[in-house]
Amino acid sequence: MQLNYSYDALEPFIDTKTVEIHHNRHLKKYVDNLNKALENSPKYQCWSLKELIKNSYLLPYNIQNDVINNAGGVFNHNFYFSGMTPNSSRFPRPRLLAAIECQFGTFDEFKSIFKATALKVFGSGYAALCVNPLGKLKIVTLPNQCTVLPIDLCPVIMIDVWEHSYYLKHQNMRDKYIDDWFEVIDWDFAEECYIQK
Ligand SMILES: [Fe+2]
Repeated sequence: MQLNYSYDALEPFIDTKTVEIHHNRHLKKYVDNLNKALENSPKYQCWSLKELIKNSYLLPYNIQNDVINNAGGVFNHNFYFSGMTPNSSRFPRPRLLAAIECQFGTFDEFKSIFKATALKVFGSGYAALCVNPLGKLKIVTLPNQCTVLPIDLCPVIMIDVWEHSYYLKHQNMRDKYIDDWFEVIDWDFAEECYIQK
């Protein structure tokens, strides 16, 4: 996927080199590996990422794991990069804000719960605020490249806490990275995700 911003646009919160390597090497690798997994299965090449992930049990057994892991990697990274902007409002838009306040009390309380959850991800993975089909918000963690799709949730905001997302700038200080990521969240995108659910 093409980014809607340049590699240096998220400075000083997410550094240029990290965005460039993350997008141009890590995400690209998942795309390349997914294409490779499907190269001998043309029947499935027209399936969307969501279809591949949700219906992976229909795929030939010998490619299921590669497709799940790499389609998950592409889906999660596409969402992560789409969810950031250099022009963040730094505050949720009205409908999502109302839902956050209804469920978590205040935006600050939500932020502290989300941050604590993201800090607890053991090893590599993601933390996400999601909405279920009934419109209820839920904070979840996802190991490795698991996605929220099989559990019927739609992501609203999602942070990648694999070390490659922050180590060049923040080293082992994941907490500082989470604080910086909050400064570049695209709340317009989050509002759309919440409304469309
Ligand atoms: Fe990543």
